[in-house]
Amino acid sequence: MKIEFAPLNIPLRRRLQTAATLQWVFSFLALAQCCLAAFVLLALSDWWTLALLYAGWLWLDWDTPSSGGRRSQWVRSWTIWDYFRDYFPITLVKTVDLDPKKNYIFGFHPHGVLVAGGFGNFCTEATGFSRLFPGLKSHLLMLPFWFRVPLFRDYIMCGGLVSSSKSSLSYLVSRPQGGNISVIAVGGAPEALDARPGALTLQVLNRKGFIKLALKHGAQLVPVFSFGENELFDQMENPTGSPLRTLQNRLQSIMGVAMPLFHARGVFQYSFGLMPYRKPIHTVVGKPILVVQTPSPSNEDIECLHKVYLQSLHELFEQHKQTYGLNEDQHLTFI
Ligand SMILES: *[C@@H]1O[C@H](CO)[C@@H](O)[C@H](O)[C@H]1NC(C)=O
Repeated sequence: MKIEFAPLNIPLRRRLQTAATLQWVFSFLALAQCCLAAFVLLALSDWWTLALLYAGWLWLDWDTPSSGGRRSQWVRSWTIWDYFRDYFPITLVKTVDLDPKKNYIFGFHPHGVLVAGGFGNFCTEATGFSRLFPGLKSHLLMLPFWFRVPLFRDYIMCGGLVSSSKSSLSYLVSRPQGGNISVIAVGGAPEALDARPGALTLQVLNRKGFIKLALKHGAQLVPVFSFGENELFDQMENPTGSPLRTLQNRLQSIMGVAMPLFHARGVFQYSFGLMPYRKPIHTVVGKPILVVQTPSPSNEDIECLHKVYLQSLHELFEQHKQTYGLNEDQHLTFI
């Protein structure tokens, strides 16, 4: 393999963008493991009382990730996220104003490998979320597993991340004051296993839990399509039925976390590594679908709203695809 090195005379601005993105990749691939190791080492050291105090705090604070979390406007506004945004760059596109008196569920598609666009747009202020949607608070949902990791959980909650458990989503959509947005990467971990450049297949046909909760609490459903999300990383071939895919499915059913074997570029060379490619991401927030509150929705109600949702997602994609570099003959496939 020939290695293509990055030129030496890269402007400082670009270097800072790379550093910010490296920090983000590290945070979501290795920071949890580092935090856990630090906690264990602390517990075994002479400072074990600190670990005990933290464990007490963890116990008291156990439900916070599933009851709105604990966001920090300060962390969300860090300058480092501006550099992160400009690396790709990431743009948030609004199609209509949203009423801050209502609660919303944003269905975010596609999941991609690391949900870079979802993070940049909804866990930081770098793309102007609060300016574009005044009075609204965005919460990205992440697997409950991550909120059990000491210290790491406190950090991710600062960005507005909350648990993706059912009780967590119910809590947010049932706030009577309104103004809360739950952002769900609907395809979840399984979709990450098919995230590679050009992929336009969404795992949505069997995802109805969020539809049911929207109906139950009368939350407005908004389809969100993130153009470019699948272009950031390559992934090892893992077609259905291959030994790798079988292993990945097995791991996922045990741990709940997907293990895509992805690769893109490095910090100082463009040939391999875990840094994403510099490809633009345009996250388009569609129009809300009016949902009438139905305290105990029937299967029919759910099926019907699910259809409307998929139709509206399809339309959002078709309407904007050519603006963001796709061809007329490229379409979404729902599975
Ligand atoms: C969102 O939910 C919180 C509770 O987690 C609530 O205090 C707040 O009023 C709601 N709306 C906004 C815009 O923050």
